[in-house]
Amino acid sequence: MRPAVTICRDGDDLAARAADLIVRAAQAAIRARGRATLALAGGSTPKATYGLLAQPARRGRIEWARTYLFFGDERFVRPDDPSSNFAMVQRTLLAPARVPGGQAFPVPTQLATAAAAAAAYAATLAKAFGIGQAGGPPRFDLILLGLGEDGHTASLFPGAAALSVTDRWVTASPPGTLPPPVERITLTFPVLNAARGVLFLVSGANKADALRDVVEGQPTREQRPAAWVRPVDGTLTWLVDEAAASRLTRSG
Ligand code: 6PG
Repeated sequence: MRPAVTICRDGDDLAARAADLIVRAAQAAIRARGRATLALAGGSTPKATYGLLAQPARRGRIEWARTYLFFGDERFVRPDDPSSNFAMVQRTLLAPARVPGGQAFPVPTQLATAAAAAAAYAATLAKAFGIGQAGGPPRFDLILLGLGEDGHTASLFPGAAALSVTDRWVTASPPGTLPPPVERITLTFPVLNAARGVLFLVSGANKADALRDVVEGQPTREQRPAAWVRPVDGTLTWLVDEAAASRLTRSG
């Protein structure tokens, strides 16, 4: 069954809708459970959304002291490297929104190996969610994801061994075919599919083929990993712009 896809006019419309959905999800989580746990997407698409969240119109609507920010994936680079997802979130959201220190949990990419960083991040999640690593995956209130033009999401790349990791919440992955050519650390499918909500943000004509395959086709997990994001007991929302939606079958 085709997931719910909202076609936005352009990148700005997509960013505004995404920011409002994130605010509402955080508010609902805090009302229901006293805190909100969000996993942020990297790359370039979410930058505009993070920027809007940092502006006064929305910044004041999120109780940042009860909102905990994690990363769906990270590049295995120094935290101050321009390609670091943490550096991008720090620049676009954490600093301008004056999010209190201790609310964001970066992947410890200063460790010696990507595998060590992945293991350490899993321990961070276990502590933050108050569960043992032998237990069920952490259940994020909202996970933000992007879509690569090859159909990857987070750092779950086509044909990668990470796609079949089901006994760990976080794993390391060699570089995909898309830049930057660095090792990655990524949440695994069990965590993505345990979320209460998953929100994909997809912008640009270069994503049109992958998006059509994922939301309308029958690709294998190896071909289009994003098609395997199917929350077991959660919502799945696609916010896409007209350019990315250009190959979709428009329902009449
Ligand atoms: C990353 C992201 C990755 C991203 C897609 C889309 O670390 O690169 O987590 O999964 O969401 O590659 O990237 P763009 O938004 O830059 O197109």
